[in-house]
Amino acid sequence: MRFFLDTADLDEIQEAASWGVLAGVTTNPTLYSRIGGKLDDFQAHIKRICDAVGPDCPVSAETVAMTRDEIVRDGRELAAIAPNVVVKVPTMVEGLAATRTLADEGIRVNMTLCFTVPQAMLAARSGARYISPFIGRFDDISEDGIDQVAQIVEAVGNYDFTGSTVNGEQIEVIAASIRSANHVTKCALMGADVATVPFGVLKKMVKHPLTEAGIESFLNDWEKVK
Ligand code: G3P
Repeated sequence: MRFFLDTADLDEIQEAASWGVLAGVTTNPTLYSRIGGKLDDFQAHIKRICDAVGPDCPVSAETVAMTRDEIVRDGRELAAIAPNVVVKVPTMVEGLAATRTLADEGIRVNMTLCFTVPQAMLAARSGARYISPFIGRFDDISEDGIDQVAQIVEAVGNYDFTGSTVNGEQIEVIAASIRSANHVTKCALMGADVATVPFGVLKKMVKHPLTEAGIESFLNDWEKVK
């Protein structure tokens, strides 16, 4: 499992990158608005994120266009920011059509707001490089987000979609809308390729009371040795 950071906050991204565990970044309009981002600085901000994480880390930047032509136009613009930009496109008819065009042009797409196996199958067939099912938002409506995402991971793994993707790359499922370290545990057990996590969750993933107690007792005992 690889870890992406689900944020537009450059400080968080730089901090997580310094830990040596960051494999990518996902943003969305809400996350960009949360850091006080403005429209005229959006592309420059995505460039700053790309520069911060380096060329091997995919950075998802989302279009808010609603027609296929506009999504394709946005997708081309976003992809031109840096080679590691992945265009985030919502799961909808216009998004599928635009994804096919973008993938045929060699532009990678992360199909987002994916909630069901049929949606995921269509996303995969449209040429999406990544599929992002949301866990927490399923939980929010009293459904089992983990179970839904596990079904998507299993279904995507049943088929070879490499004929549809850019350069025949393997499709990866990004478990998104992750709200806790326990969600990460479940995603790892189900075999999700990627978990995109808020920085708060990443910090919690490192910690365990027994780890902290163990460090403290080792340090205390080392004092006796000295
Ligand atoms: O990557 C999508 C994710 O940011 C959504 O998370 O917590 O807003 O449902 P959340």
